[in-house]
Amino acid sequence: MRKLALLAAGTGLLALGAVVLFEGSSTAQQAPAQPPRPWVLSVEDSAGLKGPKQPIFFRHDIHVGVNKTPCQYCHYSVAEASEPGIPSMATCMGCHLIVSGRDSSDKAEIKKLRDAYNAKQPVEWVRIHSVARHVHFPHMRHIKVLGANACQTCHGDVARMPQVFKVQNINNMGFCITCHVQRGVNRDCTACHY
Ligand code: HEC
Ligand code: HEC
Ligand code: HEC
Ligand code: HEC
Ligand code: HEC
Repeated sequence: MRKLALLAAGTGLLALGAVVLFEGSSTAQQAPAQPPRPWVLSVEDSAGLKGPKQPIFFRHDIHVGVNKTPCQYCHYSVAEASEPGIPSMATCMGCHLIVSGRDSSDKAEIKKLRDAYNAKQPVEWVRIHSVARHVHFPHMRHIKVLGANACQTCHGDVARMPQVFKVQNINNMGFCITCHVQRGVNRDCTACHY
């Protein structure tokens, strides 16, 4: 992680330098069309990151942190349903029919996506957060009261994660009860248990 942080700081400084350079020279129109990435990682690095390795190295830090795509663009039902929704390949392809990666390792991951799409083989993402089958967790009830930006309370700062990992122990009743007590929310066993 330290290496990552250093790399991040390093590219940040470089990016800053580049901005100053671009602003101060007559070549401003040559500024990169895409925003600089917070740090460069290849798919080989993903094995060393926290959280399970995914079939495609999909990066929230790039899509959300850099590109500022709202969570609900992909997790489309989080405010209306218990399940937040996982984007279909068509959602990805809405951009990636056109958008390509910039170096060979990014391109290889985007090629995987295109191949899967062409073969109509949905990507089998590895699930990270899931509660036991006897528990009911309605996302929409939480978003309605805690707000659309409350994701961080339970999922951590996903916008900075190159690979998603679990920050809170959601498989512990105490995590739910503590907040329900603080906010005076229903604590009947049957509210959460089937
Ligand atoms: C709103 C547009 C948009 C959507 C939707 C989108 N992407 Fe991207 N994606 C981008 C952009 C822009 C980049 C950055 C390209 C670059 O700078 O290399 C990118 C980069 C990537 C990369 C390369 C990451 C790297 O290491 O640089 C992969 C892999 C990827 N996307 C997969 C996906 C998958 C899978 C989905 C669907 C779950 C998806 N994308 C949805 C716009 C999008
Ligand atoms: C461009 C599409 C896209 C956007 C935008 C996006 N996500 Fe995701 N998200 C995905 C995909 C694809 C997965 C499954 C692969 C993975 O875990 O990386 C996922 C997985 C997750 C997971 C883990 C799911 C599990 O299995 O437990 C969480 C938590 C999550 N996203 C939260 C967020 C939050 C919070 C935001 C906004 C800050 C956000 N996502 C924005 C596409 C997106
Ligand atoms: C109060 C805590 C809490 C908040 C707030 C919250 N989540 Fe979750 N999230 C959970 C729990 C618990 C699960 C596991 C649910 C289950 O297994 O049914 C989960 C699961 C997920 C998953 C995996 C779903 C799947 O089908 O693979 C995604 C994606 C996700 N959340 C995204 C979000 C996004 C985006 C937000 C904000 C808009 C958000 N969550 C807000 C607690 C929360
Ligand atoms: C950060 C605070 C917080 C956490 C953590 C949290 N909740 Fe909640 N929960 C709320 C709030 C706020 C409501 C909304 C009550 C309302 O609609 O007025 C709520 C409502 C609910 C409801 C609907 C209750 C009813 O009145 O029928 C269920 C079910 C629920 N939560 C389950 C869970 C489970 C399961 C977990 C843990 C995995 C959890 N919650 C974690 C704050 C939280
Ligand atoms: C706010 C939601 C919530 C309420 C209210 C709640 N539980 Fe739970 N309970 C959970 C969650 C989340 C788990 C962990 C499930 C998992 O392993 O993923 C759990 C787990 C359990 C377990 C399994 C053993 C364990 O500790 O993991 C038992 C038994 C249990 N609850 C009983 C109860 C009883 C009895 C009540 C009422 C007094 C109650 N629960 C109220 C959310 C809740």
